[in-house]
Amino acid sequence: MDSFRIAGGVPLHGEVRISGAKNSALPALAACLLTDESVILHRIPSVRDIATMQSLLEYTGAAISTCSDNALRVDASRLDRPEAPYDVVKTMRASSLVLGPLVARTGRARVSMPGGCAIGARPINLHVAALEQLGATIEQSHGYVEAIAPHGLQGGHVHFDRITVTGTEDVLMAAVLAKGETVIRNAAREPEVKDLADLLVKMGAKIEGAGTSIIRIQGVERLHGARHAIIPDRIETGTFALAAAMTHGELTIADCFPEHIAALVFKMEQAGADIEQLDSHTLRVRCARRPKSIDMATEEYPGFATDLQAQYMAWMSTAQGISFITETIFENRFMHVLELARLGANIRTEGRQAIVAGENELTGAQVIASDLRASASLVLAALVARGETIIDRVYHMDRGYERIEEKLAGVGAKIERIQ
Ligand code: EPZ
Repeated sequence: MDSFRIAGGVPLHGEVRISGAKNSALPALAACLLTDESVILHRIPSVRDIATMQSLLEYTGAAISTCSDNALRVDASRLDRPEAPYDVVKTMRASSLVLGPLVARTGRARVSMPGGCAIGARPINLHVAALEQLGATIEQSHGYVEAIAPHGLQGGHVHFDRITVTGTEDVLMAAVLAKGETVIRNAAREPEVKDLADLLVKMGAKIEGAGTSIIRIQGVERLHGARHAIIPDRIETGTFALAAAMTHGELTIADCFPEHIAALVFKMEQAGADIEQLDSHTLRVRCARRPKSIDMATEEYPGFATDLQAQYMAWMSTAQGISFITETIFENRFMHVLELARLGANIRTEGRQAIVAGENELTGAQVIASDLRASASLVLAALVARGETIIDRVYHMDRGYERIEEKLAGVGAKIERIQ
């Protein structure tokens, strides 16, 4: 298992380019199952979760080829095994994204229930209930969800009890081939949902309201091929913005969508960071002083992203006072707290709240990554900790950050991967 060795204390300077969003590329790849024509997706990040989704699509019968350095061509003309087996799903819960497309395109789907993960139970009950509203008959047994709709899906009314990103994406992909109109209420408004809808419309779907909490879909007979570029990764963007501020450097962040991290930018400016939008795709971030302690609570988009909570906590660990950080989306997303404490952070958790007492200095240590975004928070803390930090199990980071050590080293970080 690979580790990172990081020597802290180096301010980052220079330009980083943001890759395509993992959480947009995953549903986009699943959407390719909805047509028998080829779909070409650009700006696909080369991260482990994408490789997992690729092998899952190939398992169902789709053919995938690389058609340029970061573009994939997916040909799902032959889907002879509409299944997502346990040994694939256990490594990536987002595999449940194939449930909707498979049952919509082939009339059946057999998807392993994604196990829990470090940050929570991660059930898919809302996905199942939504697909039943569209007429699918769903059985759950032996750890699998089996959905059938031999006469096709019918449009219907879906009202999510709570906002679910991949739940919205799953039912959106099913509804585009259902007969009649589907209305999804309390839909997720994340940019990745809007990006998926943009792709589906290019494929011939009829969708209104994507990106708002009410989405209307008129089902169509079939979808055709398309070409689409994935939006930039807003979590990578936020991670680099925090890296610039924490290390008291100055980073130009290119190929990003500043609007997608507006909630983070607002908090960072309150804490004393200097963030300037140079053009519609470029931010410049710097922060000369220790940040002020600013409270934060995660919320569904356009609120503060839960996927940036751990990274923000790392920054607040160096702040001038006490901040309260509340995680409202997942029940167990403080796995990074104990590891940050090994680096000298002073954090106490009470249920969904973490109380962070900022310290003047963090110190290097050996730590272990527990999940994707927790590993990012440890890297950020290691970049400012005095001395050397070793982070084990960085395969977590490889799931969602493309060439992270190369990008960080490219702006001055003293980071190397050790096998
Ligand atoms: C997506 O996960 C993202 N993953 C997550 O990013 C992100 O943290 C999350 O949305 C929230 O923004 C992808 O897009 C691939 P949810 P998702 O369904 O869709 C509960 C990362 O680091 N829930 O919006 O699985 C659930 O347990 C990952 O890139 C149900 O109870 O999250 C959670 O508490 C981590 N039943 C809440 O809803 C369901 O059927 C929100 O989850 C579905 C969800």
